[in-house]
Amino acid sequence: MEKRKIGFELLVFEDEKELSQNEQKLLREAMEAKENAYAPYSKFKVGAAVLLDNGEVVIGNNQENSSYPSGLCAERVAVFQAGAKYPGVTIKTIAITASSANHEVQEPAAPCGNCRQSIIEYEQKQGSSISLLLRSEKGPIYKCNSVSDILPLAFNSSFLGDS
Ligand code: THU
Repeated sequence: MEKRKIGFELLVFEDEKELSQNEQKLLREAMEAKENAYAPYSKFKVGAAVLLDNGEVVIGNNQENSSYPSGLCAERVAVFQAGAKYPGVTIKTIAITASSANHEVQEPAAPCGNCRQSIIEYEQKQGSSISLLLRSEKGPIYKCNSVSDILPLAFNSSFLGDS
């Protein structure tokens, strides 16, 4: 038996001024996007801002539905819109912010499993890492350099064989 340890480097910033100007701007765009979330059921608003290699920023926010599973997370609204509007353009970074009307969110909310899987598809397609910037109302800012860091052993198209 062999044991393999899988770990990753999480960068933790106590102050947004430690980030580059572009990263600060992207987080602000995610925060703005969050305000337009449609979250009447959970009262939990999420905003995402996707920075592309051509300099464009595509935003998304969570869109809920009275039939709960029909809603969609902010991250997927944003990356699917980026894929639809700018097909083939590399995604560099996704900033994600969250807040709740019911309580103060104390630490950065990381994307759910479905969103990680959806984002990793684009990493594999484009052949380069997508970094994530995560921030909530309180606490530090987290950065991870690749979504694959937070979805180890991910399913990918190679399992499907040649087609
Ligand atoms: N949500 C997101 O938008 N992104 C995530 O990664 C996790 C959860 C949304 C979905 C739902 O509208 C609300 O947050 C509560 O789960």
